Amino acid sequence: MIDKIKINDKEFFNKLGLLITNKFDKLFNLDNILNSQYEEVFGYYIDNNLVGFIHISKLFETMDIINIVVDEKYRRRGIATKLLNYIFNLNEGPLSILLEVNEHNEQAINLYLKNGFTEINRRKNYYGKDTAIVMKRDV
Ligand SMILES: CC(C)(COP(=O)(O)OP(=O)(O)OC[C@H]1O[C@@H](n2cnc3c(N)ncnc32)[C@H](O)[C@@H]1OP(=O)(O)O)[C@@H](O)C(=O)NCCC(=O)NCCS
Repeated sequence: MIDKIKINDKEFFNKLGLLITNKFDKLFNLDNILNSQYEEVFGYYIDNNLVGFIHISKLFETMDIINIVVDEKYRRRGIATKLLNYIFNLNEGPLSILLEVNEHNEQAINLYLKNGFTEINRRKNYYGKDTAIVMKRDV
């Protein structure tokens, strides 16, 4: 089941976030995100447990995917694909979705390519020494 994340999920949100970066809890504060006018986090729940989430920011017809993560135990079951499909259907009108991904993050790059994103740009030294690939999909 996919639903908006709640403040009670903070512990699991932070645990999942550590799979993205070990500075996650310093970079992303769920209280601030939930109070933001532009940002939203949708969680994927199995038996009421948060096993993945997608964090987006949206301004009119442009959306940025800030983070997407799935618990290691539940990967390769299509959960990230379902989270992406969920946000593709959030807008009634047209939507441009943008994201940055580390050039070495093969699993995420494959996920995005499989879901219709294409490379539009590269940003050098975006992740320390690593380059970011900027990807876009219009829905
Ligand atoms: C990237 C991530 C979210 C994918 O989650 P997932 O639920 O396993 O993804 P899905 O099951 O929907 O996979 C869809 C497609 O993505 C690609 N993919 C996913 N994991 C992959 C892997 N380990 N290696 C290669 N391709 C992979 C495949 O094309 C896959 O389709 P297939 O299973 O039919 O081959 C997950 O691996 C993750 O949480 N990684 C760590 C966090 C991260 O890097 N997030 C992205 C940047 S914020």
